[in-house]
Amino acid sequence: MMLENKEAIATGSARGTGKAVALQFARKGAVVVVNDVDLEKAEELGHQIKSQGGQALMVRADVSNQKEVEEMVKSIYFKFGKIDILVNNAGIIKRGSIEDHSYDEWNKIIDVNLTY
Ligand SMILES: NC(=O)c1ccc[n+]([C@@H]2O[C@H](COP(=O)([O-])OP(=O)(O)OC[C@H]3O[C@@H](n4cnc5c(N)ncnc54)[C@H](O)[C@@H]3O)[C@@H](O)[C@H]2O)c1
Repeated sequence: MMLENKEAIATGSARGTGKAVALQFARKGAVVVVNDVDLEKAEELGHQIKSQGGQALMVRADVSNQKEVEEMVKSIYFKFGKIDILVNNAGIIKRGSIEDHSYDEWNKIIDVNLTY
């Protein structure tokens, strides 16, 4: 399989595009780290991957939180010794005019979508 012996992280992969990416990576043989703030949904996907014969590790971490990101990366290195693929998929949006965004909302969007 194309991604055998590869470790892949897909952030924000409990649903949507990230979920599709995680499922596809697993089908291609990668060990997939299903990261999300929604651990329940991440675990559902992890079980789905495993029931299809794939390998998954579910990690709850908020990608806008430096400490949580560092802990996630450390735990992956501890378990697998390497990370081959990173898909920085986690993202949030708030629809509407920029004037309707508070600074806290703006900063959260930038931190989730760009900072880490
Ligand atoms: N859907 C679109 O039309 C579209 C268009 C352009 C870009 N994008 C981008 O593609 C990516 C995926 O889009 P989607 O529609 O699948 O999104 P989605 O909202 O369906 O899923 C995003 C996932 O990210 C998780 N998440 C949110 N904040 C997080 C955080 N701080 N840390 C970890 N996980 C977090 C959510 O819990 C969710 O599971 C996003 O970055 C989005 O901005 C989407």
